[in-house]
Amino acid sequence: MEKLIGLKKIKTAVFISGTGSNLKNLIKFAKIKKTPISINLVISNTHKAKGLKYADQSNIKKKIFNFHNISNAEKKILTLLKKEKIKFICLAGFMKILSSNFIKKFGGKIINIHPSLLPKYKGLNTHIRAIANKDKFAGCTIHYVTAKLDSGKIIIQKKITVAAKDNPTSLAKKVLKQEHKFYPAAIIKIFN
Ligand code: GRF
Repeated sequence: MEKLIGLKKIKTAVFISGTGSNLKNLIKFAKIKKTPISINLVISNTHKAKGLKYADQSNIKKKIFNFHNISNAEKKILTLLKKEKIKFICLAGFMKILSSNFIKKFGGKIINIHPSLLPKYKGLNTHIRAIANKDKFAGCTIHYVTAKLDSGKIIIQKKITVAAKDNPTSLAKKVLKQEHKFYPAAIIKIFN
């Protein structure tokens, strides 16, 4: 736990690859009074990420990096993060795995949101796997990012009940609703 010094907000970058509903929600959260963060940068590995429009709508700087050469992309991102004085990174549906070198060199906190009750269902297709296994519970986890995929220390986990009639799509929708509630809660927990 860390105390916020004065009213200075922590300069944050959000990394996305897709729809960006969590980005949209974090932008909203960064505008409320009690928020510890300001969102100053949005990074994507693809121009196709629909969520990039939320950066435009809120006049937040956005930048797309081609990950064909990962170390090259990470080097460029680190330079930009330094230039923008970014101290905190929120991964929100970012589909690339950051290297241990990147994590070390960034030096600040990096967190991620994952749509399962980790350590269950690391990686992709979490809802398909939960339904296939007839799980009674599902949920989302916000955790620190380490070089090992979806394995860093858990900050907050929210459990929900899977209904008998749920399918992967309905479950994803239910979990996403909780993600939007608990990603901000995890950030408050870290910095307050
Ligand atoms: C979310 O389910 C998140 O947990 C996972 O990817 C999805 C991203 O959704 N990592 P969105 O792009 O924020 O709408």
